Amino acid sequence: MNIHIFQNQQELNEAGAGIITSLVQTQPKAVLGLATGGTPVGIYEELVKAYNKGRVSFKSVTTFNLDEYVGLPEDHPESYHAYMKQHLFAHIDLPLNQALIPNGNAADLEEECELYNQRLEEAKQIDLQILGLGHNGHIGFNEPDHSLISGTHRVELKSETREANARYFNSINEVPSHALTMGVGTILKAKTILLIVRGADKAEIVHRALTGPITTEIPATLLQTHPHLVVLMDAEAGRLFE
Ligand code: F6R
Repeated sequence: MNIHIFQNQQELNEAGAGIITSLVQTQPKAVLGLATGGTPVGIYEELVKAYNKGRVSFKSVTTFNLDEYVGLPEDHPESYHAYMKQHLFAHIDLPLNQALIPNGNAADLEEECELYNQRLEEAKQIDLQILGLGHNGHIGFNEPDHSLISGTHRVELKSETREANARYFNSINEVPSHALTMGVGTILKAKTILLIVRGADKAEIVHRALTGPITTEIPATLLQTHPHLVVLMDAEAGRLFE
């Protein structure tokens, strides 16, 4: 495990984007696993800057998003389809048919999960998986549980996750109750995992996730088993590692 703690957000964003652009420069057909939420926004901004400066092209890259809400129209501003367009896809040369996101509006959600798993298998391996961290230790939308599911599946969001995400909606009642998420098996199969954590409110959970006992009740603890885990944290999140 490779942990880096940054004194300011800009340095963290540049480091995160630097890891991604270096990979795509050396491996133009790289497969990237993408996260949404507040954490990666600044990194996506830096990626767009690198693209605009002609330093990187995404035209042969394939991306797989971790998750999507169930039942939220794709054009709803808080859908992860809309998020990806707004923060990244609308600004770079990634062909949209190479940008995969689970369809939370599919008529048959189980079939949709199988299809997503199939597409992941066809891609063979995610070269670099970007992850944020939930306050309860979730990764993707793999919520704490007695056991975890390996492949893409439908999940009921925990109340703490809906509360955390309510900041983006008018009220918590508008936050969808379910999501589709890539499973932990797929996440852990990635060649490299890039975990990004920001803010004092994540200090305890990231410390438990990376140094505590491995348990499905804190899904992020499973990351300790990954051979190529890179962690980028701001100083607030990294406070307990000093
Ligand atoms: C998002 C995702 C989630 C978030 C996590 C942290 O695609 O899979 O696991 O990474 O909920 O969210 P933020 O970054 O908003 O604190």
